[in-house]
Amino acid sequence: MPARTPNTIDKPSFTDSQVFVECDDLIVSKTDLDSRITYANKPFCYYSGFREKELLGQPQNIVRHPDMPRAIYYLMWEHLKQDQEFFGYIKNRRKDGGFYWTFASVAPVYENNQKTGYLSVRRCPGDSAIAVVEPLYRKMIELEKTLQKEQQIPMTSAILWKAITKEFATYAEFALSL
Ligand SMILES: Cc1cc2nc3c(=O)[nH]c(=O)nc-3n(C[C@H](O)[C@H](O)[C@H](O)COP(=O)(O)O)c2cc1C
Repeated sequence: MPARTPNTIDKPSFTDSQVFVECDDLIVSKTDLDSRITYANKPFCYYSGFREKELLGQPQNIVRHPDMPRAIYYLMWEHLKQDQEFFGYIKNRRKDGGFYWTFASVAPVYENNQKTGYLSVRRCPGDSAIAVVEPLYRKMIELEKTLQKEQQIPMTSAILWKAITKEFATYAEFALSL
């Protein structure tokens, strides 16, 4: 199960300050089965603004940005629970309150046929993809804020599926097409 513990590192106020991921950088992290960070590469530290020692052992939601709809993480975890790789656009927070967009893949890691954790590799997203995803997520989060917790994922997922299923069978197909 994913770690639900809120991160303990100071939460700044969020700002409009965006950092753009360079297209030859790969932002990599590994987690244990509780989604606590066990490895973060230099680009992860650079773009998030956290030092390696501030990241190791922390829940991966340390970089969660409040503009991200809960339904996207629900979808991520549904894939991971079924041992499937997830692809998606993720807006992450920086330690200083700024943000950076990524195109992320997240997948289970196996050792000796045993699932031991998860691996995520993130790269720069295309501008045209963010132009589609940002207003879609904004619509979802605006609705999310008006709903009771148990209604948030089903109701905001409906917005996602309405946008996707006109042309695509899955979120991955949609994400990879952008
Ligand atoms: C390997 C791996 C990488 C992840 N990468 C991110 C990430 O870059 N940003 C993020 O917000 N959540 C990421 N998550 C998902 C978080 O664990 C968490 O589910 C998400 O931030 C939602 O947090 P919340 O349940 O506290 O709302 C990742 C999970 C795993 C297993």
